[in-house]
Amino acid sequence: MILDELRTPIVLAPMAGGPSTPELAAAVSEAGGLGFLAAGYLRADALAERIARTRELTAAPFGVNLFAPGAPTAPDRFAPYLEQVGRQFPLGEPKFDDDDWDAKLDRLAADPVPVVSFTFGCPAAAEIQRLHAAGSEVWVTVTSVPEARIAIEAGADVLVAQGAEAGGHRATFVDRPEDDATDPLSVLALLQLLTAAVDRPIVATGGIATGAAIAAALVAGAAAAQLGTAFLRCPEAGTAALHRDALPIETPTMLTRAFSGRRARGLRNQFILDHPDAPVAYPEIHYATSPLRSAARSSGNADAVNLWAGQTHTLATEAPAGQLVRDLSVAAKDALNRTTRAPGVFRA
Ligand SMILES: Cc1cc2nc3c(=O)[nH]c(=O)nc-3n(C[C@H](O)[C@H](O)[C@H](O)COP(=O)(O)O)c2cc1C
Repeated sequence: MILDELRTPIVLAPMAGGPSTPELAAAVSEAGGLGFLAAGYLRADALAERIARTRELTAAPFGVNLFAPGAPTAPDRFAPYLEQVGRQFPLGEPKFDDDDWDAKLDRLAADPVPVVSFTFGCPAAAEIQRLHAAGSEVWVTVTSVPEARIAIEAGADVLVAQGAEAGGHRATFVDRPEDDATDPLSVLALLQLLTAAVDRPIVATGGIATGAAIAAALVAGAAAAQLGTAFLRCPEAGTAALHRDALPIETPTMLTRAFSGRRARGLRNQFILDHPDAPVAYPEIHYATSPLRSAARSSGNADAVNLWAGQTHTLATEAPAGQLVRDLSVAAKDALNRTTRAPGVFRA
């Protein structure tokens, strides 16, 4: 398993929409962690180019992450919302697509990478078998025990356990508004529930930004920690300047569907606050809000951009990614060494 071969149990979270670059993935892999390319929002050809570029930069293993496609939403479910937003902002066409799913799977089967991970759902068993036959490991992101059981049944090798703290979209297989009434599981809660219920290596993700938190995830049973927001300010990341600059500011994060029609965690801003009841309609709302997001990004209006961020965003530093991996590894080892002395606190 790739996880057994890594020099450090640190995984770069795939981050679609700009931040993920071949340079960032390669820097993390070169430093002994596992870099990831995000395939989300890319056509299969563009993904192939990024894979080729990453291979030029490193001979170390890296992964590719895909969005599992959902189903189209009836236009009457999102039309009133878009009409409301459209009174204030320019909008695009609310179209549905499957993110070039078949073409990406065909490419990955023909020209495999060491790991293929999935979010937003679990691929069919036959699709996982096809990737296995090509020589790839398959990781599936889960947010609950029932999702983990589905992933294992389909043949997943590794579970990525995404806690509520995580920046960006929730990986939930189906985004249901009726679930909003219950709290999503934190990464520590999810890790405990998964280690008790299933037998697969687990990569913990969500709000992990320090060596101590990586150590905590390992102590709680994770095989590795996957960090996203912690890498957003690295020079190799393709994060927009506006986004980069907002991360160190102490702002609460919140879950929202306002920008994309799928629940995601971002820095609180006016657009999120103005649209608390945005409907589930992904990717239709994502496409519709695309012009307003890019206009706001170019005009420097942070109140109308999706500033995806996990709960520990103020801890993100501007260190080069390789340096960050090395610093986090040292800090995690220190924290684990301190932990081996901790049994002294049990006096009974
Ligand atoms: C800007 C951004 C984009 C993301 N895009 C993806 C993605 O394309 N695929 C995916 O599986 N997860 C994506 N995520 C979620 C991450 O994989 C991971 O769960 C999250 O970053 C962990 O929480 P943290 O940001 O607090 O480290 C994204 C997260 C962020 C912050």
